[in-house]
Amino acid sequence: MTPEIIYCDDFVAEATTYILQQGRRALRQKGAFRLALCGGNTPRPVYEALATDPKAMDWSKVWMTFGDERCVPPDDDESNYRMAREAMLDKLPLDPDQVLRIAGEKDPDQAAREYETRLKKLAQQAGDNWYRHDLLLLGMGDDGHTASLFPNSPALSEMERWVVANYVDKFKSHRITMTYPLINRATRVCFMVNGADKKRRFEQIISGDRQFPSARVTPLSGNVTWLVRF
Ligand code: 6PG
Repeated sequence: MTPEIIYCDDFVAEATTYILQQGRRALRQKGAFRLALCGGNTPRPVYEALATDPKAMDWSKVWMTFGDERCVPPDDDESNYRMAREAMLDKLPLDPDQVLRIAGEKDPDQAAREYETRLKKLAQQAGDNWYRHDLLLLGMGDDGHTASLFPNSPALSEMERWVVANYVDKFKSHRITMTYPLINRATRVCFMVNGADKKRRFEQIISGDRQFPSARVTPLSGNVTWLVRF
């Protein structure tokens, strides 16, 4: 499937509109919106914009997961959960069980297995073999990583597990990440890339250069959209 590329003028406004449109579509079609959040710096202003109008969508039917998490407590400056909580989650009418936090404070392998078990239970409750995100947000690092699927890291070859602890050599630490099997079962994946410094890497990935992990996000029956501003 050829990816959809949207070159944004106003990145935050266009990304916010896009996410709301996808959410409303899922709510219309399924009565629920399964959204996976990504971490890093790019999404923060988008999350803040999403939280400005709590009535923009029926948030009571939105389930939020995280594509990855650092191995830190939820109140750590590095925590993706903390970033999302401060930017958006605390400002929206959400019940606690609507947000599935990855327990970065726990042993990485234990946290990954627990998260995977939670997702499998939700999938089974929905009568499905897989937890299928309606919209899975991803960032892209300048090395071409996405989620915490970094070049030359063990998780790139994981084809069974849904969530794993992945040792990232450049950080000399583990991260917890969704794997390609789970990511590629999303109905729609949306990369959000904002910054001229990433244009060259984006072009390599769009051309299909599989040395970069982002290029291996190929949903089995879903679509990929790139919201980019360089
Ligand atoms: C993380 C993210 C990671 C991020 C990219 C881009 O935990 O950091 O999951 O994959 O999306 O590194 O980060 P920026 O948006 O900060 O460039």
